[in-house]
This record gives sequence, structure tokens and C-alpha cells, in this order.
Amino acid sequence: MKIIMLGAPGAGKGTQAKMLSEKYDIPHISTGDIFRANIKNNTELGKKAKGYMDAGQLVPDELVVDLVVDRIKQQDCFKGFILDGFPRTIPQAEALDYALNNQNEKIDYAVNVDVPDEAIIERMSGRRACVGCGATYHIKYNPTKKPDVCDVCGEKLILREDDKAETVKKRLEVYHEQTQPLIDYYAKKDALLTVDGTQDINVVFNTIVGVLEK
Ligand code: AP5
Repeated sequence: MKIIMLGAPGAGKGTQAKMLSEKYDIPHISTGDIFRANIKNNTELGKKAKGYMDAGQLVPDELVVDLVVDRIKQQDCFKGFILDGFPRTIPQAEALDYALNNQNEKIDYAVNVDVPDEAIIERMSGRRACVGCGATYHIKYNPTKKPDVCDVCGEKLILREDDKAETVKKRLEVYHEQTQPLIDYYAKKDALLTVDGTQDINVVFNTIVGVLEK
């Protein structure tokens, strides 16, 4: 099963992608997580990506396309994968289609987690991310067992640099301009599944699974 997660920043793509990855035992590939790991390890890619990310801009296509295309050719992706945060522009989507076509494959579903901008602002201010393993929580909707301590690895939690209100507004603008057109792109390919992302996390998950298994 080859799945793409679409949706505004903070819509819940990562939350659902992790749950789907566990259920179907296929890799969860988050380009945001890949960039954050590179920033943490101070790699050349991390140094190039950081300025764009902190400003709420997209990292240029040429820094992300080859990285994803190479990743989905790895053996653990033969059974399928979940792409979270990629593609984010029409050229990225076309590059992905091209790479999959060459292997006689295609995306099965583009899952669009639909949440209005007003709800996004509230979600982002309450999101906390683990500095160790990258797991994400929400102080109200998905709290940790112990305050500010990751349930998975025990490291501390932080508010992501790009989750500050001004940067979130910029990310939403960028989303509407550059990423939202992908909804039509996948609708035309008859691969779009839109789910109301304002519902409870488990309701969203069960709705997606219900369609995938129809
Ligand atoms: P990335 O990390 O992909 O950020 P994003 O798309 O902005 O998405 P988020 O991770 O912020 O949110 P999400 O939708 O995964 O929501 P989550 O599940 O955490 O990218 C960061 C940056 O990297 C980009 O801005 C860009 O610069 C760069 N980048 C990455 N990929 C790129 C690409 N392909 N091209 C160019 N640049 C790229 O949920 C959010 C919060 O809400 C959490 O606290 C969660 O617990 C809570 N929540 C989730 N679901 C619900 C629910 N149903 N109800 C209540 N709360 C919920």
C-alpha cells in the first residue's frame, strides 16, 4: 500500500501516518523528520534546510526529491510506504509519479487530513515534540503520561521553533499557495481520500482505515 498524507501544517498527518505505519507494518517517511534529524546532526543538508524551515518556507525541490525517490527504492518499501510531508509542490508530485511509473507502480491513496486554519493555530501552540526520538504530543489532545517527558524514550519535550505563531501563519500561507493544489492533482487521478481532521484522533484513524480496507 502506497500512501501520501496531505494536509495543512499541524493537520495531523504525522499522527495518522505513525498509526497507519504500525497497523500495516510499512515505513513512515516524514521529510520534516528527515530534515530535523539532519539539522540536529549538523549535516550539509541540515545546514541548507534550516533557514527555510525556520522561516516557514519550503525547502527547495532539488534538496528533497532525490532524497525521497532514493528512499522509496529501498527494500523495506517494497511492500508499501507512507509519505508524510512529500510531495508538497506539483513538481515534487510529478517527480514522484515519474519515479513510480518507471517501476510500473503508482500511489494508491492520497489522504487529505482536512482542518481549517483557525484550528491549526491552536493545535500548533499546544504541540510538543521530543528532542530525542521526534515523537509528537499535544498538551490537551494527546498528552504524555508525565508532563514534558516523552512516553517513548524519556527525553524532554519542546515547542518546535517553527511552531511559533508568526511562523505558523507563514507556513499556512505557503501551504495554501504551493501544496493545496495537490488536492486537485490527486482527485483527478481518482486517488484522493479526504477525511475531517477536526474529529478525535482515533475517529480520524478509523475513518481512514475503513476506506483503505473497503
Ligand atoms: P513537516 O515536519 O512536514 O511539517 P508540516 O507539514 O508543517 O506538518 P507538521 O509536522 O507540522 O504537522 P502534522 O500535520 O504532521 O501534524 P501532527 O500530527 O504533528 O515540515 C516542516 C518543514 O520542513 C516545512 O515547513 C518545510 O520547510 C520542510 N519540508 C518538509 N517536507 C518538505 C518538502 N517535501 N518540500 C519542501 N520542504 C519540506 O499534529 C499536530 C498537533 O495536533 C500535534 O500536537 C497532535 O498531537 C495534534 N493532533 C493531531 N491530530 C489531532 C486531532 N485529530 N485532534 C486534536 N489534536 C490532534
